[in-house]
Amino acid sequence: MSAVRPLPYSRHAIDEDDIAAVAEVLRGDWLTTGPKVHDFEAALAQRCGADFAISCTNGTAALHLACLALGIGPDHTVIVPTMTFAATANAARLAGAEVFFADCDPESGLMQLPQFEAALAQLKRDGCRAAAVFPVDLAGQCADLETIAACARHEGLAIVEDSCHALGTRYQRHDGSWTAVGGCGDSDITVFSFHPVKNIAAGEGGAALTRQPDLARRLAMFRNHGVNREPADFTDKEAGFESAPGNPQVNPWYYEMTALGLNYRLSDINCALALNQLGKLEHFAAHRRRLAERYDARLAGLAPLLRPIQRSAHCRPAWHLYSVLIDFDASPLSRGQLVRALEARGIRTQVHYIPVHRHPYYRDRYGAISLPGAEAYYRRTLSLPLFVGMDEDDVDYVVETLGELLGIGAEATRKRVS
Ligand SMILES: Cc1ncc(COP(=O)(O)O)c(C=O)c1O
Repeated sequence: MSAVRPLPYSRHAIDEDDIAAVAEVLRGDWLTTGPKVHDFEAALAQRCGADFAISCTNGTAALHLACLALGIGPDHTVIVPTMTFAATANAARLAGAEVFFADCDPESGLMQLPQFEAALAQLKRDGCRAAAVFPVDLAGQCADLETIAACARHEGLAIVEDSCHALGTRYQRHDGSWTAVGGCGDSDITVFSFHPVKNIAAGEGGAALTRQPDLARRLAMFRNHGVNREPADFTDKEAGFESAPGNPQVNPWYYEMTALGLNYRLSDINCALALNQLGKLEHFAAHRRRLAERYDARLAGLAPLLRPIQRSAHCRPAWHLYSVLIDFDASPLSRGQLVRALEARGIRTQVHYIPVHRHPYYRDRYGAISLPGAEAYYRRTLSLPLFVGMDEDDVDYVVETLGELLGIGAEATRKRVS
C-alpha cells in the first residue's frame, strides 16, 4: 500500500537521483540556459524521433510558441477539440486567432476523424477556412493521427498535436510500423508538458518538437524575445560586422530582435530534473500501464454502471490519466456525492474535462454551442488515482471503495482477477 494518503489523482515521482541531478546544477555555473537545456532537448528529440525539441516554461507556452512559429494570428481560425484543458484553445486566442471547437467521441473523449470532418464541414458552410488543427492525446492515448493528418494536409491545415498527456505513448502507423508520439510524422509541431502530474516532471516545463528546421528556428526565436543571433540572417550587415576588407568579422555583442517574442526559456535547474526523469520514462510508463491493467481487470465487475474509457486501436498509451465513464443516471450517487464520499475515504478524483466551449470566456465569445459527444463524455467521466508511487493494493482499495459506494458488492470487483 502506498504511503501517500489521501491518494491524489496524480503526482510526481521524485527519487534521490533526481534531487542529486538538480543539486549538481545548483553547485555549477549555469542556472538559466546552460548545458542541461541542450542535453535535455537532445535527449527528448532522440527519444521521440523528432529532429528538434525546443524546451520552454510549460505546455501552455509550447502551444503558444507553436502558434507564433506557424504564423497563426488574428486572421485565422483553428480547430480545437473541446475535450481538453483550456490551455489548448487559450494558446490560439493568445496568438489572436479564433477557435472553432470540435466535438469528440463520447466513449474515448478523443476527436476522431468524423468529429474533425464535421468541424471542417461546418466551417466551410460558414464560409471560413481553418488554418490549423490541434489534435489532443487525451489521457495519454491518441486518435487515428495518421488519418487526421492526411485529411488536415489535404485541406491545407497546419497540425499542432497537444501531447501534454502522452509522453511515452506509441502508436502504429498504417504501414504497420510503430512510432512514438512526438516524432512529428503526423504533425508539424507536437507539444509536451512536464508539470508534476504529467508523465515526467520538470517542476514546470514544456517542449515543442518538430522535424522542420525553419519551425525549430522560429520556435527558439519566439522563446527568446524574438532575438536572432545567426550572423547569416542579420539584416543590418554594417552593424553586425566589423568591416575588414575581404574578411568581415562578426561583432561579438551583436544580435537583432526581429519579431515580438517572449521569455519562455526553461532553466538548467528544470532541465536537469526533466533529463533525469526522462531516463525513467520507460519504467514510469510501464508501471502506469500495469496499474491501468489492474484497474481494467478489477473494474470489469462494476460494468455496465462503470466502464473504463474506450481504448484506441493501434495505440500503446503511457497513461497520464485513468479515466472511467459512470452512468450517473443509474447510480445511487450523483457525481458530486461520489467524489465527496471517495475523498472522505482518502481517494481524490478529478474530472477531465469540463468541455472548454462551456467556460464563460468562450461562451461569451462564441455563444452556446451544441457538442453532444463531448457533453455525453463530460457527464459521465471521472479520473481515478494513477501515479507511479501507487501499487496494486491501492488500485484494489479504490475499486472496492467504488463498488461499495455504487452499491455493487465486493464479490463483483474480485470476479475478474485471476
Ligand atoms: C491537454 C493539455 N494541454 C496543455 C496543458 C498545459 O500544460 P502546462 O500546465 O504545462 O502549461 C495541459 C496541462 O494540464 C493539458 O492537460
